[in-house]
Amino acid sequence: MLATLDAGDEVIIPSPCWVSYPDIVALAEGKPVLVSCSQNNGFKLRAEDLEAAITPRTKWFILNSPCNPTGAAYSAEELRPIADVLLRHPHVWVFTDDIYEKLVYGGFRPATLAQVEPRLKARTVTMNGVSKAYAMTGWRIGYAGAPRELIKAMDTLQSQSTSNPSSVSQAAALAALQGPEDSIAEMVCVYEQRRDMVVAMLNEAPGIRCHKPEGAFYVFPSIEGCLGKTSPGGRKLLTDEDFVTALLEEEGVAAVHGAAFMAPGYMRISYATSTEALREACLRIQRFCRGLS
Ligand SMILES: Cc1ncc(COP(=O)(O)O)c(C=O)c1O
Repeated sequence: MLATLDAGDEVIIPSPCWVSYPDIVALAEGKPVLVSCSQNNGFKLRAEDLEAAITPRTKWFILNSPCNPTGAAYSAEELRPIADVLLRHPHVWVFTDDIYEKLVYGGFRPATLAQVEPRLKARTVTMNGVSKAYAMTGWRIGYAGAPRELIKAMDTLQSQSTSNPSSVSQAAALAALQGPEDSIAEMVCVYEQRRDMVVAMLNEAPGIRCHKPEGAFYVFPSIEGCLGKTSPGGRKLLTDEDFVTALLEEEGVAAVHGAAFMAPGYMRISYATSTEALREACLRIQRFCRGLS
């Protein structure tokens, strides 16, 4: 993507979004165009909002499903109207980040744009990696399917920057991708139980409103109802950052403030940790919220 942007080219990013997207675009001198996806719509992009955001300067559209930080994931039916908008704008390239695709719950069937609309394939990059489904974050392996010319350009860029992913990591990633997947099913089952527990416990905390997401390992509750109050330790909570800082310092619970993901008034909690630690964290969040004045 860096290679294809000219200064001032616009990149549409549904938000809340992963913290790195706007910075990656800015680094390439592009202009991130954030399109807000409301909690009332399950944090999903509406086709009409995408249509309204596209201009002659739009170069790329990024879609991350399931999403970091909201966990929102799109089914084939939900992608259809988005694909229809993109078909009407052939100058827009599509980048889908499907890195959490195997972490979905309750029988949800994720889909990608290239699958739903093969006519988009000639201008779509479908990206994935081993970090999430195989818990191989440290191995630094991602991969992508895209038109040959684009992959060649990516190869050129990488060969002059990081040279290549290490051969050891490549072999490990291959083993992960080609090996049995039973461990993923087990992990998904545990994640689903944790998601349900965390959502239920957060919704019992006064001032917090938590949506139940389809995938990834995050929840992204609104903490709007807690702002403007004073913490049990006497801190004024004017922003989501004040809230997570007080929560960390007074209760020892770590969350990331929503503004980091372009969504003030929210916080992100990762449930990729033990059930016991999560239960304890949620009890502390409840105590913290009950103590607000
Ligand atoms: C949406 C999304 N894409 C890509 C990545 C990159 O993962 P990694 O660099 O570990 O492969 C992350 C990591 O948090 C992510 O959340």
